Amino acid sequence: MKTYRIATIPGDGIGKEVVPEAMRVLDALAQLDGGFQFEWDILPWGCDYYLEHGEMMPEDGLEILKKYDQIFLGAVGLPELVPDHISLWGLLIKIRRGLKQQINVRPAKLLQGLESPLKNPGNFDIVVVRENSEGEYSDSGGRMHSGSDEIAIQNAVFTRKGTERAIAYACELASKRSKKITSVTKSNGLSHSMPFWDDVFHDVVSKYDELQQSSAHIDAMAAYMIMKPAEYDVVVASNLFGDILTDIGGAIMGSIGIAPAANLNVEREYPSMFEPVHGSAPDIAGLGVANPLGQIWTGKLMLDFLGHEQLGEKLLSAIEYTLKSNIKTKDLKGSATTTEVTDALIAYLKQS
Ligand code: NAD
Ligand code: IPM
Ligand code: MN
Repeated sequence: MKTYRIATIPGDGIGKEVVPEAMRVLDALAQLDGGFQFEWDILPWGCDYYLEHGEMMPEDGLEILKKYDQIFLGAVGLPELVPDHISLWGLLIKIRRGLKQQINVRPAKLLQGLESPLKNPGNFDIVVVRENSEGEYSDSGGRMHSGSDEIAIQNAVFTRKGTERAIAYACELASKRSKKITSVTKSNGLSHSMPFWDDVFHDVVSKYDELQQSSAHIDAMAAYMIMKPAEYDVVVASNLFGDILTDIGGAIMGSIGIAPAANLNVEREYPSMFEPVHGSAPDIAGLGVANPLGQIWTGKLMLDFLGHEQLGEKLLSAIEYTLKSNIKTKDLKGSATTTEVTDALIAYLKQS
C-alpha cells in the first residue's frame, strides 16, 4: 500500500487543536479509499520549541523536511511570548522560501451552508494565486541611524522569473476554470507594480488568447471583493496583496477560520506545505472552539496535489454537509465545538 509520509507541524495556539482534527479526517478518507495511508510524523516546532531551544526549528530543519512527501502545518505565532518577526521568519517563511514554495493557492468559495456576511454575495468562487517567495516580503533593508533620525527600509524585490512564474501559474489555472483572470497591483503608486508587474502580466497573458483578462488596483480590489465577489475567478497578486485579499476571502465566506491554502513547490523538487490562511488565534486557543474547517479544507488541497481529486471532492461535500446541518463553531454563529464538527464530518463520510 502506498504510504505518504507527512511532516506534521501543529505549531502554536489553535494550530495544535485543528491539525489533529484534520489528520483524523484524512485518515478516514484514506481508509475509505483503501489504496494508501498517511504516516504523520509530528514535529514539535514552533514557539514552545523556541522558548526551550532558542530557535523555531532545528538548524537542519529544512533538510529534515526535504525527506517527506508533503508538509502539513497548523499555524505559527505566540506574539505575547515570542515576537512575530522571530517566530514567522524562523519557521513559516523560512520553509516557504527554503523549499521554493513559490506559489500560494488560496480558494474563497461560498460553499453550500455558508452564510456570507455580505448582503448580496452571489455564488462566488475565487482562487487567489499569491506570489509566495519574494516581493514585499523580501529580506532586504533594515533599520539605521537612531533617535529621531532613525529610518527603516523594507525593499520589495520582484524578479521577472518569480513574477512570470506566479502569473503563468494563474493563467494555466484560469484556462482550466472559467477563463477569467484579474491581476492586482498598485500601479498608480508603487514602482514595482508600474510598469514592472503590469508589463510581465501583459507579456504572459498575451500567450493565452482564450483568457478574459482584467487588472485592478489593490485598494479598489479590496472593495470589489466585498461589493461583487462573484464577478471574479482567478486573481493573481504579489505576496502582500495576496495575503490581504485572502483574509478578505475568508471574511466574505463568513470566517477566516474556514479559508484554506497550499504553498506549492510546483516543480515537486521539494515537498509543498499545506497550511490554512488563518493564524494561531491566541484569543481562542485552548477553548476547544476553533473552527477546524480551514485546516480540513486545506487537507483537501493536499489530497488534490497528491492526485486524489475524487476524494478531495468527497471531503468538500462532507464539509458542506456539516455547514448545511448547522454543525458550526462559534465564528460561524454556531455552538459546536472543534471536535463535534469533525466527528459529524467523519460520521457523514463513513455512511456516504
Ligand atoms: P489570526 O488568523 O490568528 O486571528 C484573527 C481572528 O480570526 C481572531 O479573532 C481569531 O480568533 C479568528 N480565527 C482565526 N482562525 C480561526 C479559526 N480557525 N476558528 C475561529 N476563529 C478563528 O490572526 P492574528 O490574530 O493576526 O495572528 C495571531 C498570530 O498568528 C500572530 O502571531 C500571527 O503572526 C500568526 N499568524 C500565523 C499564520 C500562519 O502561521 N500561517 C497566519 C496568520 C497569522
Ligand atoms: C499568512 C500569514 C503570514 C503571511 C504571516 C504570519 C507571516 O499572514 O500565511 O497569510 O503574511 O504570509
Ligand atoms: Mn495572512
